[in-house]
Amino acid sequence: MSASPAIETILLEERRYPPHPDFAAQANAQPEIYEREFEEFWESEGRERVTWFEPFTKLYEWEPPYARWYLGGKLNACFNCVDRHVEAGRGDKVAYHWEGEPEGERRDLTFADLQREVVRLANALKRLGVRKGTPVGIYMGMVPEAPIAMLACARLGAPHTVVFGGFSADSLSGRLQDMECEVLITQDEAWRRGTTVPLKRTADEALADAPSVRNVVVLRRTGGDVPMTGGRDVWWHDVATEDADCPCEPMDAEDLLYLLYTSGTTAKPKGIAHTTAGYLVGVATTHHYIFDVKPDSVYWCAADVGWVTGHSYIVYGPLCNGTTGVLYEGTPDFPDKDRWWSIVERYGVEILYTAPTAIRSHMKWGHEYAERHDLSSLRLLGSVGEPINPEAWVWYHEHVGGGRCPIVDTWWQTETGMILITPLPGITTTKPGSATKPFPGVDAAVYDEDGNEVGPAGGGYLVLRRPWPAMLRGLYREHDRYVETYWSRYPDTYFAGDGARIDEDDDFWLLGRVDDVMNVSGHRISTIEVESALVDHGDVAEAAVAARADVTTGQAIVAYVTLKGGRDGSVEMLEELRNHVARKIGPIAKPANIVFTPELPKTRSGKIMRRLLRDVAENRALGDTTTLADPMVVEEIKTRAATERTDD
Ligand code: WT7
Repeated sequence: MSASPAIETILLEERRYPPHPDFAAQANAQPEIYEREFEEFWESEGRERVTWFEPFTKLYEWEPPYARWYLGGKLNACFNCVDRHVEAGRGDKVAYHWEGEPEGERRDLTFADLQREVVRLANALKRLGVRKGTPVGIYMGMVPEAPIAMLACARLGAPHTVVFGGFSADSLSGRLQDMECEVLITQDEAWRRGTTVPLKRTADEALADAPSVRNVVVLRRTGGDVPMTGGRDVWWHDVATEDADCPCEPMDAEDLLYLLYTSGTTAKPKGIAHTTAGYLVGVATTHHYIFDVKPDSVYWCAADVGWVTGHSYIVYGPLCNGTTGVLYEGTPDFPDKDRWWSIVERYGVEILYTAPTAIRSHMKWGHEYAERHDLSSLRLLGSVGEPINPEAWVWYHEHVGGGRCPIVDTWWQTETGMILITPLPGITTTKPGSATKPFPGVDAAVYDEDGNEVGPAGGGYLVLRRPWPAMLRGLYREHDRYVETYWSRYPDTYFAGDGARIDEDDDFWLLGRVDDVMNVSGHRISTIEVESALVDHGDVAEAAVAARADVTTGQAIVAYVTLKGGRDGSVEMLEELRNHVARKIGPIAKPANIVFTPELPKTRSGKIMRRLLRDVAENRALGDTTTLADPMVVEEIKTRAATERTDD
């Protein structure tokens, strides 16, 4: 007799995975790390992980809600990630094993190669007028030139904003305008699942509304024919040719390193600001202890550089630690579903860091793909982006990790810059589905509505009660929104926007967002962003968006749409609106389903009752409907939702 799925889940959650003594003996993190005092910890890590042009004189200053770290210190992130490794005689060490999506395209870049390429681009940017403080946009796929572009900016002290290559022209343009970027770095096209993505053409469209951009540097990647605008656009290979020395700009600890835009609860994305020293120390320290990297480790973070995971754990953290990484351009199922495992085998990957949504895709495809390859080089696995369901955790452990690799389920955010809640491999006994403990020096807790700490009995809101080096330094030019979003719920306490509970062993379980933010395949999308994209279409009168659970993507977007003039929906309109959202925001925001309805459920005061739409989306019993202006509306929507389900 087999247990019911619900019971099986409980059993998986209750499994315990204690550290293996052999791993523990060699681990970078030893148990006394949890006894280290906060200030001592960050002071000595600050000195050890980073090379300073001038030492810091004060560890930190905390004037809520703003923190400053390593005050008085001068440094350069690019120098730390590239030059110092070459100067120390490690120029021949591989920085990135790059694998293109088309089969057979491979390139190894050593730290010396990286230095040469970064210097060439930095010299070119200089000639285009980029100086300390000049904002630069980067819109690229997973090519080595993406980290090279970021590092060239960091070298000059020019803050960058990387825009994920899957974002639309509108999304790109909004970010370029908000930061007032003067230069954009992009590529002709990107490879994705055997076809090309027209990055340069999309960039051209975006630039029509982003007049601050004077120059565009275009990398030739696919060789596809793309229009070049005279006087504005230059080819990377034409301009990035000068090897002459290009010194690393000495930056103040608190100088802006980059902005990264992320979805909030309004249609306008937030520009999360990260500065130089605290960010670099934070990501290098966490990378060292959590991923247990050794001087000869081969490490692969399979994220995209366009997200914070790529910034912190493909570029700045690993390179600062001089780690050899893998960079893969394409999708996991091209040309076949074993592509990732062939990469692990080819480069002897030891440490693999990915997202639950990817693990669930592999799980769905079947473990036979992993079995085709020798994965015995793996010794540590990581997960990030959303709560990992215990089934996926156990599958990852058994079929990828061969039952021998510790799994680190790492909780953090674009805002936190670095991992904050995580097991430490070799120390922590892990449980499938729990991110376990705050990283040393991190003061996390779960609060109820009134700001009381919640014990093992109940759930509540995740908060952080002490600053940490890589924390955001605010939202770009939006002080009030910064205060309101993170600091208004509890005094001087950071409100993360996640539900959480702590169990009897003081382990944290993250329960998903508590605001109007959805998490689709580990990507943050706000309901309101999708709603604005929908009402932007000429035929849409009103739209409301909710998420429902999805076995692969974690959450899937369901939109409820009322058409103008009381018109009925159609399959054609459904496709048109889905594509409209993809065009406005990007394919990741495409609703899985759209339910057409003559009316949306509203309170008597006209507020859309999203809670009820979530119930409908999740196919749950409806919550309290007594405040509805017209109770029949939800019944109608439920019937329509049941007959119009059309995911792909
Ligand atoms: C949100 C942050 C951090 C890089 C990727 C996403 C969710 C992230 C976990 C985890 C449960 C997680 C949270 C968080 N999240 N990691 N290990 N367990 N939830 O960055 O786009 O800024 O999203 O992702 O809801 O608030 P992001």
